[in-house]
Parts: sequence; C-alpha cells; structure tokens
Amino acid sequence: MRCGLHLHDLKGPNLTSTILVTGGAGYIGSHMILGLIDRGDRVVVIDNLSTGVREQVCSDAELVEGDVADTELVRDILKRRKVDAVIHFAGSVIVPESVTDPLKYYDNNTGATRNLLAACIAEGVSRFVFSSTAAVYGMPDTTIVTEETPTAPINPYGRSKLMTEWMLRDIAAAHPFRFMALRYFNVAGADPAGRTGQSTPRATHLIKRACQAALGRVPALDIFGTDFDTPDGTGVRDYIHVSDLIAAHLLALDALAGGAESNVFNCGYGRGLSVREIIAAVERVSGNKVPAREGPRRAGDPGMLVADSSKLTRQLGWTPRHGDIDEIVKSAYAWEKHLA
Ligand code: UFG
Repeated sequence: MRCGLHLHDLKGPNLTSTILVTGGAGYIGSHMILGLIDRGDRVVVIDNLSTGVREQVCSDAELVEGDVADTELVRDILKRRKVDAVIHFAGSVIVPESVTDPLKYYDNNTGATRNLLAACIAEGVSRFVFSSTAAVYGMPDTTIVTEETPTAPINPYGRSKLMTEWMLRDIAAAHPFRFMALRYFNVAGADPAGRTGQSTPRATHLIKRACQAALGRVPALDIFGTDFDTPDGTGVRDYIHVSDLIAAHLLALDALAGGAESNVFNCGYGRGLSVREIIAAVERVSGNKVPAREGPRRAGDPGMLVADSSKLTRQLGWTPRHGDIDEIVKSAYAWEKHLA
C-alpha cells in the first residue's frame, strides 16, 4: 500500500519510538499504522490475517503474520524489535456473532489478550493502549455516557472487552505496567488521503452499508427499528471519524510515555445522529438515493448511545478535527467506491 506521508517533522528524531500494533491489517489498526508512520515512529504489526487484509498494512511497517495469543512469538518480537509500547486492536468485533459463538470472543478477545499481556510483562514492556468499546456500557439508563456510567455489557463481545479492562487494571496494580483503555463509540470514515478504509467484506456498520446501498452493491439498507424513543424513531449513535480516533490513540501513547497513570476514556463527539440522518448524509454526499426498507429492531440495540468525551479533551488535550458528518461519509463513500 502507498503509505507514509512522511511528516517526520511532527516529532523530533530522538523521540521516535517502536510500537507494536496488533491487528494492524484491520480497519482501525491500518489507520493507526499510518498515524504512527506519518509522525516518524517505527511500527511492527502482528496480525493473523483471519479478517485483516495484508495489502492494508503500510509497506513502511514490518508485518509479522502470527497470533497475539502466541506468547513466545510476541516475546520474541518485543525483545528483538525493542518495542516501547503496544497498541492492541486484534480481536473479534461482530456483536451478533459473539452471541452465537461466545467462546470465540472469550478466546480471541480475552484469552488472547491475556497471553499478549504475559509477553509484555515478561519482556518489561510497560505501556499499553487498548481498543475497548462503548459496548461495555450495555443499555445505559442515561443517553450521554461518561466513563463513570456503570458498565453492564449485554453481549459476549462487550463482556469480553470489559474482562480485558479488568485484567489490565489488575496487572497495572501488580506490575510496573500502565495502560489506556479507549472506549470507542461508532467508528466510521476512512483515511482522508484514501490510503486505507474499512475493507472487511462482512462489515455490518451503518455508514458502510448505506454507502454500499447508494452504490447499488446491496439491494437496500435495512433500517433496524423505527419505534425507538428518539426524535425520528430510529437509532441514534455517536459517529466518530477514524482519523480523530487515531489522534486519541497517539495522545494516549504520548501520555503514557510522559508518565501518565492508567486511565479509561470515551471516544466520541457527544453528538447523536439517527439512522435517517445518516441516510440523508449519504444521499447528499453520493448524489444517489439510498434504497431503504424499514424493519424491526435488531436484538440488543440501544435506542441512543452518545459519548461524553470531555475527559479525553480535558486530560489528553484531544481536539477533534473531522467531525463534520458529510466529511465522515465522504471519506467512507470514496473508500467504498475504490473497493469496486
Ligand atoms: N443500523 C441499521 N441498519 C444497518 C446497520 C445498522 O439501521 O444495516 C442501525 C443500528 O440499529 C444502530 C445504528 O444503525 O441504530 C448503528 O449500527 P452499527 O451496526 O453501525 O453500530 P452499533 O451501534 O450497533 O455497534 C457499534 C460497533 C460495535 C460496538 C457498539 C458499541 O459496531 O462494535 O457500537 O455500542 F460494540
């Protein structure tokens, strides 16, 4: 993949770090690699390519094809590459699948992370950024969710991620080890330079599906529920541009390098958009109609889930730059067209 923009002046050469990115061939991981390479860090990727796409890994990064659960392999990478910190994306992410195949989620998300962490502890790698999820909150009573909102996941996916957060806390209490867990709301969009995007063919995410419908690649978009207690009856979510999410990871990484304590942060904009508002945005951006059919709610879908991310702004200085929904959709649509 054509990759680095080589914006190395963003960071002095002496500050260059070596970062292990797990799941770097996936949607968010591949953007993370670009964010790190663009600022001059060295990147090693471990991915078993079960859902990831080899071509999505920037050629400036070293790709090791393997499993994060393989403690010996990870130890070897950490030692030989002198890894300073780990950003952990590898895992399974499809909520309905987690309901039908829970052991896969406890294996790939919780068990595999346990082995990865064992390698970090054994090799003295003490900085860790973890890809967590708003699914840890389940169906919160409140519509604006802070990090203090009780965690009560309602599916194995959310539980497998929350268990990992607990594991991280226990390890940080017992060892010289610090972590940042970032709880993503609805990640969307693609690299503004068009270098990577969401390629997973089985992706079920609204913006991707709506773009596919606008391009005629699926017959219609199903609207899952029109009777929620929301302004237009459809589900409301907080869609965050993947580039702003990557910026949050870089800040989290730098905070750890600067000695910050372990912490948990929500990642979203604090802005809710309904399914109908997303359809309208895709129609505006594409100039095409999004054929849609109304149907029942999807099991386990909360009506509204919006992040209070003020902690991220306050404590890490995060300033979102790509929040405009048309910008998010434009990048997602451009990537979808490119996948043809
Ligand atoms: N939706 C549709 N039609 C579709 C797809 C989605 O109407 O074809 C609706 C959903 O019902 C929901 C909204 O669009 O109201 C967003 O759905 P997504 O599937 O895009 O995302 P979710 O909010 O269900 O899930 C996302 C992540 C999960 C994470 C969860 C945390 O994909 O990994 O947020 O709440 F667990």
